[in-house]
Amino acid sequence: MNAYERVIVKVPASTANLGPGFDTLGMALQLYSYIEMSAAEETSISLYGEELSGIPTDKRNLIYKVAQMIFDDAGVSVPELRISMYSDIPLTRGLGSSASAIIGGMFAANALIGYALPQERIFTLATALEKHPDNVGASLYGGIIAATWDGTQAHHIRLTPSPHLTTLVAIPQFQLATEKARNILPQQFSMGDAIFNVSHSSLLVAALATENFGMIRHAMRDRIHQPYRASLIPGMSEILDKAADYGALGIALSGAGPTLIALVDERESREEQLEQFLMDTLNREQITASTLWLKPSIEGTVALPDIEGRMFMDVVKGDM
Ligand code: HSE
Repeated sequence: MNAYERVIVKVPASTANLGPGFDTLGMALQLYSYIEMSAAEETSISLYGEELSGIPTDKRNLIYKVAQMIFDDAGVSVPELRISMYSDIPLTRGLGSSASAIIGGMFAANALIGYALPQERIFTLATALEKHPDNVGASLYGGIIAATWDGTQAHHIRLTPSPHLTTLVAIPQFQLATEKARNILPQQFSMGDAIFNVSHSSLLVAALATENFGMIRHAMRDRIHQPYRASLIPGMSEILDKAADYGALGIALSGAGPTLIALVDERESREEQLEQFLMDTLNREQITASTLWLKPSIEGTVALPDIEGRMFMDVVKGDM
């Protein structure tokens, strides 16, 4: 591809933590944002889709800002950009909308300059901005990732999820800022709780890697964030306790919430029963929510083949 030509990238949503893997495990989901980027005489930003209403369309826009970080890091100057974005990922619900914007913007900017930076560099720059690698790693690489961040460098290993794995997400209508859901957490944990989480997170990675589905319900238990966040999401404790009885392999708060995510074996799914249980429990607490069945996204962020002259939204609709 020639540098500075129009690029269109597709970036998946993600779920973080998967229960015990706080700030370390992530999984990409088949729900997407699309970003178009090209060099321009003057910056213009167009947003499509209900999910993006209220987002700035000037140089304060996150996509614009992260693109400039990539250009700075690569030592090139592309000060004015034409950006378009469409997203199906709901904002501030725990499905990695901000991580997908960061990764999408960085990936598009890097594609625009002929992939000057390696993928790992994008991962590290995105993690430095998000402060945790789980959502950005999943959106960038796809599949399931186990990742670390030492404050300077991010490392990861990607697993391909079982083809039989699917998820059911229950998305409450209310928004929950990640900052609020992080501020509610204690600064210190007992040795017992630390060991509990390290062991359960390790067991979960091993269960997912070996497709040992029977172990998932035990492995997804957590003691360092969900018990504290439960006070912000009425009905959550009951859902975490009982979802496995209604056919889930395991269940967790998705990222910082408020979305809840059940892992499900497609071959044994009691779809309606599980969906009904989640909705009934939330509705009893006066929470309006919607559900979506989402397969893991095997692919991470990709550049779509461009057909010259095609409008951005036509390319997006053609892909959906
Ligand atoms: N690991 C993060 C958290 C994900 O749970 O706070 C949310 O962005």
